[in-house]
Amino acid sequence: MKNWPLEAFTKVKTPFYFYDMDMLNEHITIASNAAIKYNYSIHYAIKANHHFRVLKEMKNAGFGVDCVSENELLEALNAGFSPSKILLAGVGKTDNEIRLAISHSIKAIHVESLEELEVINELAIELATCAQVALRINPNVNAYTHPSITTGLNENKFGISLNKINDLIALVKNLSHIKIIGLHFHIGSQIEDLSVFKTLSLKVNEVWSFFISAGFKLAYLNLGGGLGVDYYSPDNSLPPFEKYFSVFNEFLNVGHETKIHFELGRSLVAHSGNLISKVLYVKKGDEKDFLILDAGMTDLMRPALYQSYHQINNLSSKEEDHIYDIVGPICESSDTFATKRSLPKASRYNLVAIRSAGAYGQVMSSNYNLRPSPKALFSDDLLFSESLQTELKLVI
Ligand code: LLP
Repeated sequence: MKNWPLEAFTKVKTPFYFYDMDMLNEHITIASNAAIKYNYSIHYAIKANHHFRVLKEMKNAGFGVDCVSENELLEALNAGFSPSKILLAGVGKTDNEIRLAISHSIKAIHVESLEELEVINELAIELATCAQVALRINPNVNAYTHPSITTGLNENKFGISLNKINDLIALVKNLSHIKIIGLHFHIGSQIEDLSVFKTLSLKVNEVWSFFISAGFKLAYLNLGGGLGVDYYSPDNSLPPFEKYFSVFNEFLNVGHETKIHFELGRSLVAHSGNLISKVLYVKKGDEKDFLILDAGMTDLMRPALYQSYHQINNLSSKEEDHIYDIVGPICESSDTFATKRSLPKASRYNLVAIRSAGAYGQVMSSNYNLRPSPKALFSDDLLFSESLQTELKLVI
């Protein structure tokens, strides 16, 4: 919370997201340097946070971008990413999304099924061109993360099963307008046990050589994202980018000429984003005390959806600690940010920060109860833009 403009926070309508741009840029730079060391490329997974300011920083760092929808693709183009650095993934792409990707000649469409590959071929014929694709293979490797964000097991809907590879090879021979440039793997998100990436690398080596011996000319390998962050330590913990890349460097064996890509989302943006909220009521319950905030699950879904931990700080109180359940105003008991959390004793209108919310936070907000979408403030805007502060003047 170094250099946070707390005085400015009191003038802004809550809840809002506050992005620490120094931290964002520090994490981007460290990730970028770690990747460059091994000649790896990073494609930012835009789904983690699509704010234009964030996209600009990713582009300035020289990253490509990984999109999963028509609007993400358009926003990436709008932010100035070259089509040659744009990927399109997703298990259920619409015809329009595929057409858009083909007509912009993006780097690759990541194909998730044989059925999809046939559709892409048909649409490429319609557009009288050839579609450049990478095959997303489901390696059946356990990521040992939350089941809702595990994607690389046979039971998951993602990627082409290893059991279908022979059918795939037979099918490809009949597709005239498809160019296969490589393979894609992504086994999940918030992966903290890095040994999982060793298991993935060894599996990738096997699959890669199978395709090469079947006559495929592959020059592109994408290993997804997935690097986890330490939600318990938002201020002092850097995601272990160096260790992450070094595991792949040690165990991958796919030939030196292969260009290796990663699609990092969370690890680049999580720690720099914070949901800033106000205490509406300190409610004494029968069994516990509640801090009722003006932010709810509509502003940050992660705790309700995955029971995820986020550190929470009271920015206004230095009193001794007290135990609270920290909840939002919405009529669901799942609208709970934390239970039995120890925080400095709170009172009405105290400002509270819910930390490490930069990834899958603001972008997953909803308008349930007709609640407005939370706004974003950036550390450099807040310090310098008077007009922005006026526009967002606080009235509770
Ligand atoms: N590539 C693909 C194909 C993905 O599906 C994802 C994330 C990424 C890259 C980026 O993964 P990351 O580096 O961020 O782990 N809403 C959930 C996370 C969903 C992740 C979905 N896929 C959450 O809040 O934890």
